[in-house]
Amino acid sequence: MRLKAIIFILCLIAFGVALYFFVSGPKSSDPIEYSAKNSDPNNGEYIYIAAGCSSCHVAEGSENKYLLAGGQKFETAFGTFRAPNISNSVEFGIGSWEFKDFYNALKLGQDPDGQHYFPAFPYTAYSKMKDKDIIDLWSFWKTLPSSETPNEDHNLPFFFDLRRNVGVWKSLYMSDEFIKGDQDRGTYLVEALAHCTECHTPRNFLGALENAKWFEGAQDPSGKGRIPGITVQDLGWTKDEIVEYLSSGFTPDYDVVGGKMASVVENISQLTAMDKELIAQYLLRIK
Ligand code: HEC
Ligand code: HEC
Repeated sequence: MRLKAIIFILCLIAFGVALYFFVSGPKSSDPIEYSAKNSDPNNGEYIYIAAGCSSCHVAEGSENKYLLAGGQKFETAFGTFRAPNISNSVEFGIGSWEFKDFYNALKLGQDPDGQHYFPAFPYTAYSKMKDKDIIDLWSFWKTLPSSETPNEDHNLPFFFDLRRNVGVWKSLYMSDEFIKGDQDRGTYLVEALAHCTECHTPRNFLGALENAKWFEGAQDPSGKGRIPGITVQDLGWTKDEIVEYLSSGFTPDYDVVGGKMASVVENISQLTAMDKELIAQYLLRIK
């Protein structure tokens, strides 16, 4: 009897371990053709701005929004992350990458060896990007300068530093479905590119977004202060007031945008009037 119980428990453990390795393993994407000839670097630059890649990947305080030297620190409940150098430097950046590597980083949150990236890199949003936009973004990327700044390591406590665990997290929380609304352009801009929810929606104890509390405001990830809610009830702004804020940074009370939202406005203000309008319309749907 005892032996049977032990065998049963050992089987259970073996099953658990096998399941862990299965769930946490790398995924593969369907191969996508890249040809520079069929890509549009101007659209790529537009996507770059809408997606705010520079907000995290330029050096702290850098004025050059195209020099992706990395180095910025992001303090979270799970440790301190450092943005890597993603310039075209072969030694320190991603200059040796092929399109496939770039695609898998954004679509799957995986590095060229199949290791998982931490979701401090908001690939949970970028995975919803259209293939054509990733192709265009890559063709624009190839025009960007190199920075020879070496990467700094993340500072994460044991367990949270294990990339393999992120595979389990992804299988629980990563989805290529849009959360609110149809796949219209407003939803695409907000959910796939501008990743507004990454800051404005609270997170559970595993750091995953609480979709039921979409845009209700959140603790700042650093633990200091709160990011405001931007549902219709929280904000109470008209469409024009939202567009004005996203264009000039002025609130209806003539306060001026601050904190991390300032670089968001710096980017979004460069989008077309139509796209800002669509973002405002999306916000007005979130009650
Ligand atoms: C909120 C901050 C943030 C934004 C915005 C952001 N990233 Fe990152 N990115 C990170 C962090 C942090 C990492 C490191 C992840 C890790 O080590 O697991 C990273 C890693 C990467 C990597 C992997 C680099 C390597 O050496 O393996 C690439 C490529 C990348 N980002 C591209 C982009 C692109 C393209 C965009 C815009 C579409 C973008 N990032 C926007 C924070 C950000
Ligand atoms: C990197 C984090 C971050 C991202 C991404 C972000 N926000 Fe914000 N947002 C903030 C912070 C912080 C504030 C508070 C700004 C301040 O104190 O001036 C804010 C403020 C706002 C406000 C004004 C709220 C008020 O009551 O004054 C609006 C509207 C807003 N954000 C909309 C958006 C939209 C739309 C997006 C996506 C296009 C977005 N945010 C993306 C962090 C973020």
